[in-house]
Amino acid sequence: MDIHAIFTPIESELNQVEARLRSEARADFGPLAEVIEAIIESGGKRIRPALVLLSGHLRSVDEEHLLRLATSVEMLHLATLIHDDLLDKALVRRGAPTISSKWSEKATVLAGDFVLAKAAKISAQVQNFAVMSIFADAAMVLCEGEIRQDFNGHGQSTDRAEYYQHIFAKTASLFAACTESAAALSEATLEERNALRTYGHSLGMAFQIIDDVLDFVGTQDEIGKPVGNDLRQGLVTLPTIYFYEQDARRKTLDSLFSHNGHTEQELHQVVEWIRTSPAIQAARDEARQQAEQARRSLEIFPESPYRTALLELAEYVVERKK
Ligand code: IPE
Ligand code: IPE
Ligand code: MG
Ligand code: MG
Repeated sequence: MDIHAIFTPIESELNQVEARLRSEARADFGPLAEVIEAIIESGGKRIRPALVLLSGHLRSVDEEHLLRLATSVEMLHLATLIHDDLLDKALVRRGAPTISSKWSEKATVLAGDFVLAKAAKISAQVQNFAVMSIFADAAMVLCEGEIRQDFNGHGQSTDRAEYYQHIFAKTASLFAACTESAAALSEATLEERNALRTYGHSLGMAFQIIDDVLDFVGTQDEIGKPVGNDLRQGLVTLPTIYFYEQDARRKTLDSLFSHNGHTEQELHQVVEWIRTSPAIQAARDEARQQAEQARRSLEIFPESPYRTALLELAEYVVERKK
């Protein structure tokens, strides 16, 4: 399933969001403007603005405010990517060098903060207190999640509850914020707003589980970032948790995470074991269950091209290859 085809009902609005993002890339300091422009131009699926647009249109909504909200959530996402790539020591994102690979840590953190502030400013222009509050909550949950993970030894726990808590914080919370804030902006009832929040939450969980699967089974060409990077960083995700629970070779994992460190060859071996183990399908099954939950929560809405797109998006996130 092609994501552009799914987004057809909002194609022209997404183009407007694109234009707004580009015009918001401006900064007085040349080098800062350059890196922000580069990350915006490097593409990305624009799922979060699409979630805002599709959710908002399930009920009647102010078009201008909806476009601002859609722009602001992608800006917030960009800020988290800048910070995330620094924390993850990632050199490539969307097939292009990351800011953290070119700039000092200090400058990278500040560039992320700058983009976060931009996002907050655009969100304020939506002129809706519920929206601002949801936006701020999402930003707090994101930061807290990253700090918690860092304190937990960068996610080396094989505890499932901790994994879910972490992927909610880093991904599902923002998805839920997108769908809920769009509902708050529209004439949706409280019940509909809650349903949309559930949709965003479940979709986000599915999305991140698949992101974690792709880190094993994808190719760098497809996912735009190196494969096996999570384990390389010592980050335990759902495929690794299943492998750990079900495979006798788990002992090698323990030594991988021991203080002695590991060679690139050992890492490749473990990535290969996990990649070809039943753990991958088990994780995919879980993502599918979350996506089903997301689809069910839309049952209370009447049929419309927007609802259809949201239903298809839930299919797409579990099938996606990038
Ligand atoms: C990347 O998000 C960060 C995660 C939550 C996995 P996306 O996969 O939506 O990134 P882009 O925006 O399409 O590059
Ligand atoms: C990123 O999660 C989530 C945020 C940006 C907060 P990941 O670390 O899994 O995303 P990738 O794999 O770098 O895209
Ligand atoms: Mg990362
Ligand atoms: Mg990842």
